Amino acid sequence: MLTSTRRRTRPDAVLDGMTTAVICLDQSLRVTALNSACESLFGISRRHALDAPLTEGIPHFGSHEPRLRKALDAGAGFIDRELTLQRVGEQAITVDCTVTPILVDGKHGLLMEVLPLDRHLRISRDELLLAQHQASRELIRGLAHEIKNPLGGIRGAAQLLEREFPDSEHREYTRVIIREVDRLQNLVNRMLGPNRVPQKALLNIHEVLEHVRQLVQAEGPDEVHFLRDYDPSIPDIVVDREQMIQSVLNIVRNALQAIGSTGNITLRTRTKRQLTIGGARHKLVIQIDVEDDGPGIPAPMMEKIFYPMITTRPEGTGLGLPIAQYLIHSHGGLIECRSRPGCTVFSIYLPLELQ
Ligand SMILES: Nc1ncnc2c1ncn2[C@@H]1O[C@H](COP(=O)(O)OP(=O)(O)OP(=O)(O)O)[C@@H](O)[C@H]1O
Ligand SMILES: [Mg+2]
Repeated sequence: MLTSTRRRTRPDAVLDGMTTAVICLDQSLRVTALNSACESLFGISRRHALDAPLTEGIPHFGSHEPRLRKALDAGAGFIDRELTLQRVGEQAITVDCTVTPILVDGKHGLLMEVLPLDRHLRISRDELLLAQHQASRELIRGLAHEIKNPLGGIRGAAQLLEREFPDSEHREYTRVIIREVDRLQNLVNRMLGPNRVPQKALLNIHEVLEHVRQLVQAEGPDEVHFLRDYDPSIPDIVVDREQMIQSVLNIVRNALQAIGSTGNITLRTRTKRQLTIGGARHKLVIQIDVEDDGPGIPAPMMEKIFYPMITTRPEGTGLGLPIAQYLIHSHGGLIECRSRPGCTVFSIYLPLELQ
């Protein structure tokens, strides 16, 4: 008798390779299977959702149970286009949802395919954002150059004057000029941003996060707590260490300044599959979240925070976020932000296959 030696692809591997979220439900609308795309779309874990009633495992479907039960009873599927799914307190997602009755081991169930539409909207938004940031960055750099040139001359002239006026009363004025010129020079250098060629090397992203955490923890009050939620399976990534520290530091410092004297900052790492950033599709992307429980960013401000010179802090220059965005962008990545009072999350996305 001939036996086949050909190896079959496991159904699980196929499901996990798909970019469409897939969910299987049994007769009592309990989750019997789901794939990785489903986990990342709804921000849930397989462990939590499997065997749970759908509305508990994936709370986004809270109000859709009656419709699904009807489909199950009637043995008739349906397609919902541009369906808005929302979990309480979270951003809504828009999806196309196809529900098909299935028969598994003689028992009726449902197969749900959920295709996120936000991804398409996101891609065009990302591209627009990156183009706008690029334009404003060039404008700022042009201005900074113009300001920088005469500063050296002003400083030199003030030093000459200082020598001409031996009495201390007038030297006081020249000192003011020199001090203010130095302050402007610092600002202009930050506006020009880093100008060295990135030195990329393979490193562990958690080492960068831990470095930043230690730096900021030393600056902040004791009542600010750092929580860490790292995915230790994240592979090393090729990045410029200094630039990575600079970007994360700018974001974590903002979080510290936002929460004031007491609060929590959470550093979280995850991987995401099949993410499109600025028009390029990536198989695997590292997601670094910096979350704080501060007052949040008001909606009108949210639109502008990545633009240079936008600040609400008296001593702020409004350069921290645009610099961080520029550095992450030069690594092929993107920073996004979502915020409500009590929860602000900055997510840094870095593609892994750049190495
Ligand atoms: N986690 C946060 N919570 C609330 N508001 C924030 C947060 N992060 C940033 N912001 C807002 O975004 C603004 C811009 O931040 P950005 O880091 O670019 O500049 P800055 O912190 O004001 O100045 P600096 O150049 O010193 O960083 C801040 O002034 C603040 O209003
Ligand atoms: Mg800042």
